[in-house]
Amino acid sequence: MQGSSLAGVILAAGKGTRMKSDLPKGLHSVCGLPMVEHVGRAVRSAGIDRPILVIGHGGELIRQACGDEQYAYAVQEDQLGTGHALLMALEQLRGFEGDVLVTPGDTPLLEGSVLQRLVEAHREGGAAMTIATVELDDPSGYGRIIRDGNLSVVHIVEDRDATHDEKLVREINSGLYVFRSSALFEHLPTLNNLNNHGEYYLTDMVRALADAGERIDTVVFQDRGILMGVNDRWQLSEAAKLMREAILRRHSRNGVSILDPASTFIGVDVEIGHDTILEPGTILEGRTRLGDRCVIGPFTKITDSTLGDRCTVLMSHLNRATMEDGSRCGPYANLRPGAVLGTEAKVGNFVEIKNSQLGAGTSVSHLTYIGDAVIGAKANIGAGTITCNYDGYQKHRTVIGDGAFVGSNSTLVAPVTIGRGAMVAAGSVITKDVGENDLAFGRAKQEVKIQWVAHWREQKLQQRHAQTSGT
Ligand code: UD1
Ligand code: CA
Repeated sequence: MQGSSLAGVILAAGKGTRMKSDLPKGLHSVCGLPMVEHVGRAVRSAGIDRPILVIGHGGELIRQACGDEQYAYAVQEDQLGTGHALLMALEQLRGFEGDVLVTPGDTPLLEGSVLQRLVEAHREGGAAMTIATVELDDPSGYGRIIRDGNLSVVHIVEDRDATHDEKLVREINSGLYVFRSSALFEHLPTLNNLNNHGEYYLTDMVRALADAGERIDTVVFQDRGILMGVNDRWQLSEAAKLMREAILRRHSRNGVSILDPASTFIGVDVEIGHDTILEPGTILEGRTRLGDRCVIGPFTKITDSTLGDRCTVLMSHLNRATMEDGSRCGPYANLRPGAVLGTEAKVGNFVEIKNSQLGAGTSVSHLTYIGDAVIGAKANIGAGTITCNYDGYQKHRTVIGDGAFVGSNSTLVAPVTIGRGAMVAAGSVITKDVGENDLAFGRAKQEVKIQWVAHWREQKLQQRHAQTSGT
């Protein structure tokens, strides 16, 4: 934003008592990102590179999750109210001249454009404090904006402290404000905690400023959802529902077919190419990227994975896996971290792949475990193949060359190498390397006893005959 003398403070020290959680409220996720990070992103996109995050309850956890690069931190040891929380950030703002944007840490749907509008209105109006408000049909739980006969804001009353008449006011305080820094430095330290709850309310700045003859502006926002505050788990679900819909709509408008929006969950940072089809029950999480013309689902969960174009994933789980163009997996495949399927590779039902690369066109079609392996192109791994990669202490590698053929139900005891074009007979236990184009048997040699069963049956019959004629 222009002018640049803009600082930002996010209040996230509160206990979040109503969440009934061990986790600090700000770390509860909405569509895969902690609430406080949603707020942080909005604040940064409004031009504040490194907002001050006020932490307290569970503060270390928040700091670990949010990192030191994108936030400065102020600590509020005891949660004495929102006014006290902002006071804790003032030390870091000492000497700052300009405007201070203040947001709660529990408004995950917040967008940078809202903050920009608020800051612009504040600067145009030249007030000491500008408040973002919304008119709600059901204002319960929020602070109400109390205006005098000239419609000037004179007070914000908290829901729990409001009289019957005040409760009827539908214009609520969203908890987003811009302050002229000088007004903040002068009046914030004068707030008291003389209310029913013994808290320092930031909202009391309104009265302090009004009493000092300063002007207070409001910007009334129409979109009710965007400023929604989350205080309990149900509101968390409601915020997630609104955000989920917005994310689905965005992808859908970008050319993604979502067959059943009600059962499709897409994280905020997921990217999807056009003409990709998401079947019902698809969950895409984290830094997942899908190319064009993929078909995903039904009943599939993909986390932090990268898929090229034309990939198919049917009823499978992927976590930190990579699928190159035209590769396929499922039904019931489990691609674990480090699984890489080359172009046109195929992984079928009940196959688990971990930390392994499959070359282009390689096929692992049924009932197989591949761990810590490098498999070349156009290899064929038969049903029931197991790489024995773990000896109880260390992991070992299996290397399989291009065009190799591993017969069904083989056990490859790593470390071991199967050369290019080599063949492993079905049912083998392979403990020694197999050279290029060699054939390896690692099983007991078959023996056939000609007519043995016929003789044996004949014998048994004769025994029985002898017994019965003896009685
Ligand atoms: C607050 C406002 C209310 C407004 C609502 C909007 C006050 C007194 N009330 O109420 O007018 O309608 O937000 O959603 O400000 N926090 C701290 N330290 C504290 C207390 C709170 O950092 O000691 C933080 C919380 O972590 C939270 C934010 O401040 O992110 C708001 O606190 P919360 O308890 O959720 O206030 P509300 O009751 O929602
Ligand atoms: Ca709140």
